[in-house]
Amino acid sequence: MNITLSPSSPVECRADLLAVACDDGGVDESAQVAALDQALAGSLRRAIRDERFRGKAGQTLVIHTQDRLPATRLALIGVGPRAALRPATLLPFAGRAARVAGGVGASALALAPPPALAGDTADLAAALTQGALLGAYRFDRYLSDEARLGRPPATIQLLLAGPGDGQAGILRGRTVAAAVSRARDMVNEPAAVMTPTRLAEVAREVAAQDGVELTVLGAQECRDRGMGLFLAVAQGSVEEPRFIHLAWKPDAPRAKRVVLIGKGVTFDSGGLSLKPNDAMLDMKTDMAGAAAVIAALDAVARMRLPVEVHALAACTENMPSGRAYKLGDVLRSKAGKTVEITNTDAEGRLTLADALSYALDLRPDVMLDFATLTGACVVALGPFIAGVMSNDDALVTQWLAAARAAGEEMWHLPLPDRLGDQLKSEIADMKNTGERWGGALTAGLFLKEFVAGVPWAHVDLAGPSSTDKESGHILKGGTGFAVSTIIEYLRTLS
Ligand code: BES
Ligand code: MN
Ligand code: ZN
Repeated sequence: MNITLSPSSPVECRADLLAVACDDGGVDESAQVAALDQALAGSLRRAIRDERFRGKAGQTLVIHTQDRLPATRLALIGVGPRAALRPATLLPFAGRAARVAGGVGASALALAPPPALAGDTADLAAALTQGALLGAYRFDRYLSDEARLGRPPATIQLLLAGPGDGQAGILRGRTVAAAVSRARDMVNEPAAVMTPTRLAEVAREVAAQDGVELTVLGAQECRDRGMGLFLAVAQGSVEEPRFIHLAWKPDAPRAKRVVLIGKGVTFDSGGLSLKPNDAMLDMKTDMAGAAAVIAALDAVARMRLPVEVHALAACTENMPSGRAYKLGDVLRSKAGKTVEITNTDAEGRLTLADALSYALDLRPDVMLDFATLTGACVVALGPFIAGVMSNDDALVTQWLAAARAAGEEMWHLPLPDRLGDQLKSEIADMKNTGERWGGALTAGLFLKEFVAGVPWAHVDLAGPSSTDKESGHILKGGTGFAVSTIIEYLRTLS
């Protein structure tokens, strides 16, 4: 897709579809709407009134300009409250515009941000680029008739004139969108394709670029390192487990060493604690955390950020079989702690615990883990918001600021010590599940036992990692959630 900057105003802009962002701060008083309406001989105002267009987020009004404007079609797209405008507002706007363009077969798209949104052109261009590319994302490999999803626009003009480096913004938006799309692809592939072995191959593609190192451990090497929890989950499957370790080491003196850890369960049947059909339907997405950290590391290396970043993923299926780990088993973790298994469907925390111990060997300044860990987190926060648990309040503040800038919703949840009593076992150092209430938090408390006091945050993205509703730049299927926040966080560190 060809993306360019243009200083022209919407009334002069030539395109198949001109998309204009309107906040809800008085569509009627907007000078931009007035200028367009004048060129359209009053038909825009009439359409706004008749269709009750108010600039509500996502509200869309498309009209044909009948050659009264250089643009063939005009779309007004609502972006919500004026007071809440910021660059991230442009993500859903541009994504929606790209989808409307696909729907009407527009090949040249132009995007006009709301005049009330001031800001650095680099940030605005990055958000418009990222949003449009993500809105144009398709996962159509398995469709015989790919045209069914509509064709994305071939060119996009960003109507931006302010100060700042717009070209650098376009490049950044492209890099982030490519990483998010790569994560979406990994999540959208069926589990039969996106196996632990295939994930390691994707990591190898990432490692083909300069400055990135890759280590992949097979089952025997994990055994040598004592990863008894990870291997127990893996032993029920005929698919070989893979422990993936990607590292980006910048030439420049590093600011910090950050280790990212992603849950990489490529299919979660629940194991012997088998899930019912409906709960298993989406469980190819249980590697969304691994996809996020692998894709984010790719972007960080492309941007050559001066931060040392490691991405770890303990990848396996969780399957029932004659060799599967059992309820009542007592396992020894890499850290030495023993764990009694009370539910084989609480497998994610087991794989993550050994990965956290591996991470500690790298002597990190910060550890961040990303996991589709609990249905309880979805019950608590709904399907769009991720839960963040941590042992370090300053880290949470920094992390949530990055999430806000990246336009991803996350919420701080507590790790109450008292709840940790639920993980006490009679015969081992701990159990792998607690009681029903507060399930997201007991999972977090389990992980906390393995971080040895290093600043750490756990992001439970069971809700937002995939969706069955289209909105803005987010399409059905894997969302690539957390990739852009990781990149934003690492950018602010450097
Ligand atoms: N992968 C699931 C969590 C999940 C649920 C992700 C729904 C996405 C959507 C995880 O491995 C799991 O099964 N968790 C159990 C934990 C329980 C056994 C303590 C759960 O949430 O029910
Ligand atoms: Mn499970
Ligand atoms: Zn799982």
